Amino acid sequence: MAAADLAADARILWRLLRGQPNSGSHAERLQAFYAPQADRYDAFRERLLHGRQALIQRLGLQPGARVVELGCGTGSSLMRIGARADQFASFDMVDLCPALLDVARQRAAGHERIRVIEADATNWQPDQPVDFVFMSYALTMIPDWSQVIANAQAMLAPGGRIGVVDFHLPAAGGRLSNAFWRRWFGHDGVHLSGEHLTMLRRLFVEQFSVELRAPVPYLPGVKAPYYLFVGEQREGTKSLPMALPEWLRKTG
Ligand SMILES: C[S@@+](CC[C@H](N)C(=O)[O-])C[C@H]1O[C@@H](n2cnc3c(N)ncnc32)[C@H](O)[C@@H]1O
Repeated sequence: MAAADLAADARILWRLLRGQPNSGSHAERLQAFYAPQADRYDAFRERLLHGRQALIQRLGLQPGARVVELGCGTGSSLMRIGARADQFASFDMVDLCPALLDVARQRAAGHERIRVIEADATNWQPDQPVDFVFMSYALTMIPDWSQVIANAQAMLAPGGRIGVVDFHLPAAGGRLSNAFWRRWFGHDGVHLSGEHLTMLRRLFVEQFSVELRAPVPYLPGVKAPYYLFVGEQREGTKSLPMALPEWLRKTG
């Protein structure tokens, strides 16, 4: 690796070692954590956040679809979706961190159907129901993660699909290993749980899921547990009242 890349990695590692600040609102803490690393975010996370390309492939995104990404960060999913993004009816990329959204806006510039939106994934709703909603490594960073899943369910049209890739604590992970990962990631505001996958399986009709492990930069021989899940909106789903969108309220 070139000296400049090593120096850039060192800055990111320093941020990770310092962890997320304890004070301020959730949005303020995200901004304080990510602003100093926004320019190198993608290069480092490319080696840490695995399965994002596989998620896009498994989702089966269609031309003409309405698509939402919650917790889009720098909008790096655009690199993985490529020219197909211009064939969607709409693509709304939502995040709460202005520093990362600045990078996403540069990426989305010139793409008419892409909107980059600063909002909270726990309660933001699109103008009309969507065909696909996906999240990569966002649920573990959102304290009220169950509300995000409920909110995603509320925005999905009948037959719509949800896709999630994220770190987690596997049921078969072992107490020591799970305790290590909970602590390791918790320092940076990333809260691993075994319950995310359980809730996804309960609320959606599972189309695909897999639990894997992937290498972590600068931790040779160590692999972090993550999962991929793709599910379909259940027929006749009644959304949770707290997340019920306007269009559903009108039609009952
Ligand atoms: C680990 S990053 C993943 C970013 C991107 N999905 C990726 O794969 O590179 C987690 C993202 O979740 C965002 N986030 C955290 N809480 C959020 C919330 N309540 N609403 C929207 N985005 C949130 C963070 O700002 C950050 O961009």
